[in-house]
Amino acid sequence: MRRDRLALVAGIVIVLLVAVAALVGWAAGHYTRDSGSSSAAATTSSSASVDPAVAAGAHVFVQFACAQCHGLNGGGGVSPDVPALTSVGQQLTVAQLRQIINHGLGESANPTKPYMPVWGAVISKRQVSELVAYIRAGLPSVPTATPPEVPAGQGPATAGAVLYVRDGCINCHGPNGLGGVPNPQSPDKAIPPLSGAGFRSEFNTDKKIQDMIRTGSVIGRAPIVSMPHWGGILTQQDLNALVAYLKTLK
Ligand code: HEC
Ligand code: HEC
Repeated sequence: MRRDRLALVAGIVIVLLVAVAALVGWAAGHYTRDSGSSSAAATTSSSASVDPAVAAGAHVFVQFACAQCHGLNGGGGVSPDVPALTSVGQQLTVAQLRQIINHGLGESANPTKPYMPVWGAVISKRQVSELVAYIRAGLPSVPTATPPEVPAGQGPATAGAVLYVRDGCINCHGPNGLGGVPNPQSPDKAIPPLSGAGFRSEFNTDKKIQDMIRTGSVIGRAPIVSMPHWGGILTQQDLNALVAYLKTLK
């Protein structure tokens, strides 16, 4: 009788221990991604799904074309000049990441090398927080946060219209190249439009437009937003398509 009870108690203890071990393992799986101190909303989720701020960050990562230079989920492999971001979430603090996103890492005037663009004037504080949460969470896959697919077989202008969104041109030059996006510290106080008479007379050949996209144009240091260099990132076919699209704008 006593023995049986003892065995029962021992059994219960073992079951409890196993349960505790499983819980600890589960929690570790959920929380180790973000062992750094004060951070993010990323860790507050208790469900197995991605935290909403992290998921929002995944969308911002696509919207601002971070994925076009740093690869899907920041995995790299696009250009030897652009680092993968998979381990920066552990290496850099929230403040450092915010600083890099807002101010870049120093614009390069070398037209053959892409540089980390300055986003401060064109991105909201909230979007920066979401990006940081996403990077600190290890850039997980979020099912719907994928770049739009470029249509094939419908001509370069149609492809270019999608590239204009996928490569994030729209964030700086506005829908349909209408411009008007503020760039307060720059001489013009705004990022130029890519449509209208002024643009057409200055950029009156395909080559001039393509050269500008490929080499970018540094007009000043952060917080001034300059035109990123897309050489080595965009293919010649992409450039042709973008130009074909821009020429459809009135
Ligand atoms: C036009 C290409 C391009 C785009 C678009 C771009 N980056 Fe970068 N990024 C770079 C390059 C190049 C570097 C390396 C710069 C250097 O080391 O001077 C870099 C560096 C970084 C770093 C620092 C990495 C490290 O190892 O220190 C972070 C973080 C980063 N980018 C985040 C982003 C985010 C977030 C976005 C989208 C809002 C973005 N980048 C969009 C080109 C790009
Ligand atoms: C981070 C913001 C930003 C992004 C993203 C961006 N641009 Fe620009 N772009 C600028 C700025 C700022 C200028 C003005 C540069 C100057 O005055 O020298 C500019 C200038 C240009 C010009 C020359 C227009 C003129 O009047 O000087 C063209 C063409 C252009 N961009 C095309 C593109 C295309 C195509 C994309 C997408 C692949 C793109 N840009 C993405 C900021 C951006």
